[in-house]
Formats: sequence, structure tokens, C-alpha cells
Amino acid sequence: RKRVVAFISGSGSNMLRLAQECAAADFPAEIVAVFSDKADAGGLAKAQEIGIPTFVFPRKDFVSKEAHEEAILAELDRQRPDIVCLAGYMRLLSGRFIARHEGRILNIHPSLLPLFPGLDTHRRAIEAGMKIAGCTVHFVTEGMDEGPAIVQAAVPVMAGDTPADLAARVLTVEHRAYPLALRLVAEGKVRMKNAKAVATGAAAVGQTAS
Ligand code: GAR
Repeated sequence: RKRVVAFISGSGSNMLRLAQECAAADFPAEIVAVFSDKADAGGLAKAQEIGIPTFVFPRKDFVSKEAHEEAILAELDRQRPDIVCLAGYMRLLSGRFIARHEGRILNIHPSLLPLFPGLDTHRRAIEAGMKIAGCTVHFVTEGMDEGPAIVQAAVPVMAGDTPADLAARVLTVEHRAYPLALRLVAEGKVRMKNAKAVATGAAAVGQTAS
């Protein structure tokens, strides 16, 4: 089974879903550790409850972004992950960090990329008059939310939706899309090659989670 380290900053619901999938005997990956940049991230308690070791790296404990990332990278080396899953991790990784784990880092973003990268995606999708929204699980490259997509899933935008309404609806499909993407990558059915997601064997890239 592939070793996964999940990075969180918040409630950790995606991390928990991944951990629940990993509990199935036939799932090709396991979460060996959860890293957070926030000591008060709600996901830390969720991880501890199910016996996953947690590591907290508050940015303010380090003099620079480089020093912060060095500490994280050092612990990552000890954990020997095959795959790193960013799951609501709200910090941009440097090019140097990404290069150290090239092709091994996945992220989930709550929009149908390349639409609405960055923050505040739901408000922007509503203001743009979108009738559908969704999420994207993608390989991480240096540009923010720019790496190639592995799985996307869509939901309708309803008249009168607030950003919070839409976020909640998108989150329900995130919880299906991320386990599917992790399975595809862990099984070696999708990998990143020349900054593109390529299917090997029978997997369909661009598969939707339904
Ligand atoms: C999720 O909606 C995820 O897509 C989003 O944060 C939320 C985390 O929820 N990520 C980003 O916005 C990344 N820029 P969770 O902590 O309950 O998984």
C-alpha cells in the first residue's frame, strides 16, 4: 500500500474521507501521518481519534518560509510518503518543495479549474453567474492551482445560493472525487508526465466522480 501524508489547515473533512476509504482492505493507500500548519485545525483531533499521528508546523515558529518548509520536508523524509495529499492546506508550496516531491503531490480545489483558482472561489462563481460549480483534484505544480486535473466533479448552482450553501454542496462531491483520484494515482493508473496527467492502462483521465 502506498504511504500517504495528508496536509491540512482546517476541519479536515477531506482528510477524514480519505482515511475512511483507506480503511477498506482493497484500497491501495494508507494515511501514515497528518501535517498541519495550524495548531487549532479541527482535523487534528479527527486524525488522532482514528490513530493517525499528527505533526503541527505553525508558520510563526519559523523565521522564514524556507525554514518552515525545511522543517516540514525533514519530517516528510522521515515519513517516506509515496503521495502527499493537500486537503484544505491553505499555504502555497515553493517550487523547491514541489521539486523534491515532483509528481507525488495532489491537491483538491473547490472549483472547476482552470476557472476560479485561488481564494473565495464560491463567491466568485456565484457572482459570475455560473450554473454549475464543482471541484478539481490535480497534481501540484509551481503555479497556484495550475497542475493537471485527475478528477473533477460538478454540482448545480441554485438560485439564491450563498457562498456557504455552494461550498457545502461542492464539499459533498469533494468527498467522492478525492478518494477516486487517490486510488487512480496509488494504483499507478494516472501519473504526471511533462506537466500533464496521463492515464496508463485502463483508467480514464478526466473521469468524473458521480
Ligand atoms: C475544501 O473545500 C477544499 O477544497 C478547500 O478547503 C476546504 C477544506 O475542507 N481547499 C482550498 O480552498 C485550497 N485552496 P476540509 O478541511 O473539511 O477538507
